[in-house]
Amino acid sequence: MSTIKSIKAIQVLDSRGVPTVACRVSLDNGTSAEVKVPSGASTGSKEALELRDGESIFLGKGVMRAVKNINTFIQPAFIGRNPFEQEKIDNELILLDGTDSKSKLGANSILAVSLAMCRVAAKDKKISLFNHFSNIYKDITGNTVKPSLPMPMLNILNGGEHADNNIDIQEFMIIPKGASSFSEAIRWSSEIYWNLKNILKEKDLATAVGDEGGFAPNLNSNEDAIKLIIESIEKSNLEAGKDIFLALDCAASEFYKNESYHLVGEGKSLDSEQFANYLADLVNKYPIISIEDGMDEDDLVGWKLLTEKIGSKCQLVGDDLFVTNPKIFQDGIDAGLANAILIKFNQIGSITETIKTIDIANLNNYASIVSHRSGETEDTTIADLAVGLGVGQIKTGAPCRSDRVAKYNRLLWIEDDYSDLHIG
Ligand code: PGA
Ligand code: ZN
Repeated sequence: MSTIKSIKAIQVLDSRGVPTVACRVSLDNGTSAEVKVPSGASTGSKEALELRDGESIFLGKGVMRAVKNINTFIQPAFIGRNPFEQEKIDNELILLDGTDSKSKLGANSILAVSLAMCRVAAKDKKISLFNHFSNIYKDITGNTVKPSLPMPMLNILNGGEHADNNIDIQEFMIIPKGASSFSEAIRWSSEIYWNLKNILKEKDLATAVGDEGGFAPNLNSNEDAIKLIIESIEKSNLEAGKDIFLALDCAASEFYKNESYHLVGEGKSLDSEQFANYLADLVNKYPIISIEDGMDEDDLVGWKLLTEKIGSKCQLVGDDLFVTNPKIFQDGIDAGLANAILIKFNQIGSITETIKTIDIANLNNYASIVSHRSGETEDTTIADLAVGLGVGQIKTGAPCRSDRVAKYNRLLWIEDDYSDLHIG
C-alpha cells in the first residue's frame, strides 16, 4: 500500500488575480497530484471561513497563513498514512481545526488537502477522478450513484457583485436542455454567446465581460437582459423553451436591506411578497426553469412564500441559503424551503461533508447542481465531481475565459473517452 510522503502548499493566483491555495500531495511511490481552491465574491454569511492574511501584502488578501497551516501543521499529522481513507482523513482535518467554521486552519487549507487526497488516490489507483468520486460516495454514505454527464448552466450575462454594470440580478444563464450530447450543448451555448456579443455590439452596448465570462452591459431592466438572450437564441436558429431554457441566479442577499429587495437598476424596492410576485411574473412570461437565491439567505418567510408560489414549476436553488452545509440544508428541507441545492465544496471545506450534503439532497428529492465560484483557477475537480456523483447539472460560467472553459473542456474529454456516459 502506498503511503503519504509529503503535503506541500504554495500561494498562487486565481482568475481575479487574488491569491489562493495550491496543494500537492505526494506518495512514497512517486505518485503526486495537486489542486487549487476557488473563492467566492457574493458569499453566504454561514460559509466556512476562508483564511486570509489581512495585512498590507496583496491588499490583505494573501493566503500565506493557510499555506503555512498546511505545511507546518497539517502535513506532519499525515506523513506515512494511507491516502485512501478519505472520510477518516477529512474527519481528522476537521478535528485538527476544532471550530465549527474551520476558522483556525481555514477552509481553504482543509479543502485543499481534502481534494488533493482524492486526486492522488485516483491517480495511484489508475482510475479517473470521477470514478473515484463515485467510489468514495459509496464508502461515505453506503449509497450508490450512477455517473453521468451534467447538463450545463452557462452564465452569459452578468450583473450584481460580479460586474460593474447596473443590473441587479447576478446571473442570466442558458440551459441547452434540448441538446442530445454534452458537445452539442456546448456548441449551441457558444453560438448563442457569440450571437449575443454581436447583438450587443449592434446596439452599441458594452461587450466587456464580468467575473464569470458573461457580458456585462448597462441595461434598463432585468427583463431587458432576458429579451437580449432570447434574441440571441433566435439568431442562433434555436428555440427558447424547446432547445434552450433560461435560469437566473438573483443572489438576492446582495440587494436585500431593511426587509426590502432593492432593484436599484430599475428604481424599485419590493417586499418579500412583491419580489416573489416579480419572479413569478418572469417565470410566467419567459422559459425560466431555475431560479437560484431568489430570496435573501435569512428571509425564510420569503423563501417559503416563493417555494409555495412557483416551486412546482420552477427549480428553486438554495446557494447562500444552504451553503453546502448538511445541517443547515436539513433544517431548510424540514422547513419546506426551495427544491434544489447549489454545491460548492469551499462553502463547507471538505469533500466528505460535500458528499454528505449531496446524499441528503438525493434522499429528499432535492436536485443538486455542482458549481464553480466567481474566483476560479484552471482546476477542473468540479467537472469530475458532477460526473462521478451523477448529479445531472453543473454551473460553471460562460463558454469563455480559461478558468470557466477548463471545466467544460474536461467534460468534453470525459464525453469522448467514456461513450457509455450520457447527459442529464
Ligand atoms: P460567488 O458567486 O462564487 O461569488 O459566491 C457564485 C454564485 O453566487 O453562485
Ligand atoms: Zn449563487
